[in-house]
Amino acid sequence: MTTTKATTISLRAMKKEQRKIVMLTAYDYPTARVAEEGGADMILVGDSLGMVVLGYDTTLPVTMEDMIHHTKAVTRGSKHTMIVTDLPFLSYHISTPETVRNAGRLIQEGFADAVKLEGGREVLDQVQAIVRAGIPVVGHIGLQPQMVNQLGGFKVQGKDYESALRIYEDALLLQEAGCFAIVLECVPTPLARLISEHLTIPTIGIGAGEGTDGQVLVIHDMLGITDRYLPKFAKKYGELFTDMTTAVESYVQEVRDHVFPGTEHGFKMNDDVLERLQNEITQRS
Ligand code: KIV
Repeated sequence: MTTTKATTISLRAMKKEQRKIVMLTAYDYPTARVAEEGGADMILVGDSLGMVVLGYDTTLPVTMEDMIHHTKAVTRGSKHTMIVTDLPFLSYHISTPETVRNAGRLIQEGFADAVKLEGGREVLDQVQAIVRAGIPVVGHIGLQPQMVNQLGGFKVQGKDYESALRIYEDALLLQEAGCFAIVLECVPTPLARLISEHLTIPTIGIGAGEGTDGQVLVIHDMLGITDRYLPKFAKKYGELFTDMTTAVESYVQEVRDHVFPGTEHGFKMNDDVLERLQNEITQRS
């Protein structure tokens, strides 16, 4: 377990000292407890919660209220880990005041330490405005799941020269705009390495290979909590869906077989109280 909360400064020092940064998503009290006890440096309350917790096909239906609700639960579960919460789809696209207000709500109501938003050069004004309000911002480029309809699916980004250069330039622009870290999602390993080498702020990769300053995984994929499709870049460190299903099957069977609950799971009552109660009920019937 980490006892000292990471800061924007300590994360930059980790990059300099080539110590890998470990980020993990969490969406509720128990997953936050697990991520913190397991020693993650940063917890991301990702809008991926729309897909892994709420059962949507994309992250697009996720609302500010969803993000605040889940962030509150996560921050109750982890007191010593930096918490970053995603600004959901359309919460930072309408106007600058609305963007700053929404970022502020994640901090004031959810108690997050920082926010993350998707996009490159097109979100620089938003990044600057949020940073000016004193809120640390993580950028997110490469595959941007909130753009899934425009991208035509969840695909690797930056494979050709033009798109790779654009992602590289976006990373520099986000750093200049004030981001303290950048998530690189689903980009070729050499591109992610190149970007990481040219930035002074840390990069955190998912599907971006081993050359980034840190890694992030979705906790449900990593623990095998879900039976949904597992992306190629994710590694399963557990089979909790199978373990949990087996546990449920045992419970169902034991109830049906009169094995659970056992005497040890029940509560006693004084014999005289029971006798009095039985007499009363008999008289009434
Ligand atoms: O929402 C999320 O979980 C994310 C990670 C995939 C980086 O943005």
